Amino acid sequence: MCGIVSYVGEKQARPILVGGLKQLEYRGYDSAGIAVQNGPKISCQRSVGKIIELEKKISSLDMDGTMGIAHTRWATHGEASEHNAHPHTDQEQRVFIVHNGIIENYAFLKKKLQKEGCRFYSETDTEVLAHLVGIQFDGDLAEAVRKTMSQVEGTFGIAVIHRDVPGEIVVARRGSPLVIGLSDEGHFAASDVSAMVRYTNQVIHLQDNELATLRKDDFLISTARAEPIQRSIETVEWHAEDAELNGFPHFMLKEIYEQPETVMNAMRGRLELGEGVPKLGGITPVWEELKKCRHLVIVACGTSYYAGSVGRYVFEKLTDIDVEVEVASEFRYRKLNFPPNTFIIALSQSGETADTLAAIREAKRKGARLLGIVNVVGSSISRETEAGIYNHAGPEIGVASTKIFTSQLTILILLALLLGRHQNLSLTEGAETIRALQKLPEQIRKILSQANHIEAIAEKYHTCRNWLFLGRKFNYPIAMEGALKLKEVSYIHAEGYAAGEMKHGPIALITPEMPTVAILPKDDMYEKMISNIQEIKSRRGPVIAITTEGNKEIGEVADEVIEIPPTLDFLNPILAVVPCQLLAYYCANLLNRDIDKPRNLAKSVTVE
Ligand code: F6R
Repeated sequence: MCGIVSYVGEKQARPILVGGLKQLEYRGYDSAGIAVQNGPKISCQRSVGKIIELEKKISSLDMDGTMGIAHTRWATHGEASEHNAHPHTDQEQRVFIVHNGIIENYAFLKKKLQKEGCRFYSETDTEVLAHLVGIQFDGDLAEAVRKTMSQVEGTFGIAVIHRDVPGEIVVARRGSPLVIGLSDEGHFAASDVSAMVRYTNQVIHLQDNELATLRKDDFLISTARAEPIQRSIETVEWHAEDAELNGFPHFMLKEIYEQPETVMNAMRGRLELGEGVPKLGGITPVWEELKKCRHLVIVACGTSYYAGSVGRYVFEKLTDIDVEVEVASEFRYRKLNFPPNTFIIALSQSGETADTLAAIREAKRKGARLLGIVNVVGSSISRETEAGIYNHAGPEIGVASTKIFTSQLTILILLALLLGRHQNLSLTEGAETIRALQKLPEQIRKILSQANHIEAIAEKYHTCRNWLFLGRKFNYPIAMEGALKLKEVSYIHAEGYAAGEMKHGPIALITPEMPTVAILPKDDMYEKMISNIQEIKSRRGPVIAITTEGNKEIGEVADEVIEIPPTLDFLNPILAVVPCQLLAYYCANLLNRDIDKPRNLAKSVTVE
């Protein structure tokens, strides 16, 4: 987790660094810090809480300087306090460092350094890095960082400055993301392009075990063995406005409203109606083997896992492939047999989730082929998989994932359709699916137009402390995702269940104070869902039904009804999740929650 940003150039560094941190705040937000260098003078300040606290603290201080480093933290080692906040420094206070990642052998290194006389001021793992760089510095900062890298185990994205080397920042990575930004007014390095996109769209993704030395007018990338590296410059697709609220009160709401566009973007240029086949250029490198694939394992975490769970039902409907979905953090404990041509699909918004990365590395060791469905271009998962499909959904800033979920579903459906069309799926079925996909953006808009109605439902039930979400088949994962969204942003306890499981336990919880959100579009599960609703009503539980528009009889059994437009059964999840997102959003808003940065969470979960 954590976010780092650094800048060296001709402008004042402080506003650039603070602005960059604000863009990275989604990565962690329990404390923050900044160090600005002006010649041999380095001014460093840290504070507990969000970036705004740091900004207030430094507003009246003299922090002139055209280079510096900054950090926003999600605590792993040591509580969120000022002394644990970054930048950390060495004994002589000459080295200042910000770090994203975890140094696994820090306890051993710390003991060793303490024996050598180093005094530690924090409980963090990062502080060992500052001491190691300080001790090993003999005039060449990059070399001191190199030596340090060879002694540490674990993951890091770091930016380091030294009093004796004004005008130079050394950055390095292993396992944690680090992007370098190039502009005529200076050079940047950050955990994510959003921290620099206001100034440049020209970037280079640093790779594992690489360092870069950044100066105002030049930069040098090198290996851990000091060999220089030439790397091509990429142009990012994002614009600064993508990372702004544009009149919305929260990023979560903005991103919910972006879904007509992001679902469209997931399909743009990828649909071939005449052939009834999608075109997915990103998988060309593995297409010949993928065509023969009979066993697919989807690995992901959280919301991405629920998207994968919908994907399993869709693949089973459209193809003859056996599909497993596995929570990435559990994947390594399974004894999975991979028949030849087994493909793993890693689903991840950030492309940096540590559990998902660990799962694909394990799968690779066992001989599986790797595909990624990732939003962040150039992220670790996108680089470690053989081929893949990008979401092209722009930055998702709200910590609770919304637009990426529907984008992931769209892409999984396209992939299933493509493989299905090379198996038994007919041209008619292919074309029918494409036509239905094309209608989705407009249909999502129609659901969004019911926002006031959904807000009124939230108004009625937001004080209930426990909720249940039920669905079957394609919509069972939507019940789980709906419950997750509500928990995350409103802190209301919610459970997502397969509706058929309710009678095996959760029904004991039903009371007039426990609302149930029942997801029951008019599909082949409808009648069974109605029976489940009846069971709830007999126990006087309130029911909020999400069903297909025009369903007249539902009003007789449900207390509240939210309508979604008619579509194919396996496309319903893309529509049904939108009211769940809005319900979660409005409940959280009514409860005055910190919607875009819910407590204890971080957007990019880079610890296992
Ligand atoms: C929930 C949420 C998380 C992420 C999970 C995986 O709203 O955002 O559950 O879905 O941490 O993240 P990615 O998709 O970046 O791998």
